[in-house]
Amino acid sequence: MSEPGVPLAGVIGYPIAHSRSPLLHGHWLRSNGIRGHYIPMLVSQADLREVLAALPKAGFVGVNVTIPHKEAVIQIADVVTDRAALIGAANTLIFRKDGKIHADNTDGYGFIASIEQEAPQWYAPAGPAAVFGAGGAARAVIVALIEAGAPEIRLANRTRSRAESLRSEFGSKIIVHDWVQAGAMLEGALTVVNTTSLGMVGKPEFKIPLDALSPRALVCDIVYNPLRTALLEAAEAAGCTVVDGLGMLLHQGAPGFERWFGVRPVVDSETRAAVLGAF
Ligand code: ATR
Repeated sequence: MSEPGVPLAGVIGYPIAHSRSPLLHGHWLRSNGIRGHYIPMLVSQADLREVLAALPKAGFVGVNVTIPHKEAVIQIADVVTDRAALIGAANTLIFRKDGKIHADNTDGYGFIASIEQEAPQWYAPAGPAAVFGAGGAARAVIVALIEAGAPEIRLANRTRSRAESLRSEFGSKIIVHDWVQAGAMLEGALTVVNTTSLGMVGKPEFKIPLDALSPRALVCDIVYNPLRTALLEAAEAAGCTVVDGLGMLLHQGAPGFERWFGVRPVVDSETRAAVLGAF
């Protein structure tokens, strides 16, 4: 139990050592002069339910949830936001005073807020989007793009069946393309997003040909290590506006921090530096 009145939050995952969230929330706690703590917690799937039930009793006001628990917490939570239910995963839990666990997904919010900050001229309804990947991150990005008014979402994934199931879940705005010809999706696309792990340190390169990329396109990579991926370098060289993956990571944390600690944190160059310090 923490000192009375000192709120605790944290992040639950397995593994957890790689998480940047303690750096992010630690920075926000310090820069806002809040007496609270944000703690990384290694919790196995078998222990998840029991740990979540116990944390409020120890002074926790909520937690972030990361791989592999984002889907499982939807079953455990008492109240699930529409957005989290639609995505099928939650990353932010609030332990309410009435004892109920409230689950939300702020990944899509983080994605849009990051673009709005870095590329305020972006307007989703202006043209088709092209999304690479159909995993958990893609689900949040696609829901956010649909909500933002993208007229068409072209989707390619190495495992085509995963892209097909996103189409059946999220509707006919999604047009599935073959992974081997994924470069063709770029023709006329105004929003381009890599949600795969390609280009991440230790993972294979993102090698999809970018010849069809329009200089009017906004290109986002959710990979943030490295910050400047080969995709973003090539897109910038082609004249595109680019948004790196760090902004999404920072912005997705803001709604949880506000609910737990009562202050809406800012995402600025200091926030970026605080999290980048660990790379
Ligand atoms: P996340 O929650 O981060 O999206 P994920 O659900 O494991 O993680 O999804 C990872 C994405 O990267 C998937 O779209 C995956 O493609 P598959 O569905 O075919 O696995 C994609 N990905 C990972 N490694 C890849 C590779 N070497 N080539 C192409 N796509 C890859």
